[in-house]
Amino acid sequence: MTGRNNMIKASIFDLDGVLVDTAKYHFLAWKRLADQLGIYFTEKDNERLKGVSRLESLEIILDLGGLKIDNVQKIKYADLKNKWYLEYINEMTPDEILPGSLKFIYELKDAGIKTALGSASRNTPLILKRLGMNSLFDAVVDGNMVKRAKPDPEVFLVAARLMNIEPANCVVFEDAVAGVRAALNAGMLCVGVGSEEVLTEANVVISGLYEMNIWKLEEIG
Ligand code: G6P
Ligand code: MG
Repeated sequence: MTGRNNMIKASIFDLDGVLVDTAKYHFLAWKRLADQLGIYFTEKDNERLKGVSRLESLEIILDLGGLKIDNVQKIKYADLKNKWYLEYINEMTPDEILPGSLKFIYELKDAGIKTALGSASRNTPLILKRLGMNSLFDAVVDGNMVKRAKPDPEVFLVAARLMNIEPANCVVFEDAVAGVRAALNAGMLCVGVGSEEVLTEANVVISGLYEMNIWKLEEIG
């Protein structure tokens, strides 16, 4: 322990891959588009889309296929993918909240630590509603509210500002490399959620929120 632990006053959670596993739905929808465009797209390629905005994800897929199209067409394809993605999201239930997430969030609240959500997804409001989490957080910042995508720290800095907490007193839970960088760029602590080999820059890495508790939080820093 460094003593820095006492300074954690707020926790900011990424959504996709931290609180819920939407990556599988993103994959299915992108795969459908890639197939239609004749682009070979695998689950491994899908890893590169984590934490990346919708249009940037499309750019990555088009690059994989060496396809060049104009902006109007890009927006059309991104909209089409999102339409297919929403077919899955609209079927989601609270059962899909990843294990341990709610227990940990309530533990934080009981300890007087503020909680926020910071996601690149423009579908955040709908997903939170489907999960029954729409009034859980002190602040929600999503892809509709920020201009600069992770690894830019904007999404987390806005969350901290809305909670009225200094960035240095925030800890971020992130599953994406770009998200870990965004947290560190914001001057926040970062708990990586996933594998240590991938999230090498995080202050500490856990497999899932089921591993977290308030005492463990005190050891970070
Ligand atoms: C999250 C996901 C990304 C996704 C992005 C935008 O960061 O990890 O895979 O591309 O949100 O999501 P959206 O729901 O707006 O298409
Ligand atoms: Mg994520």
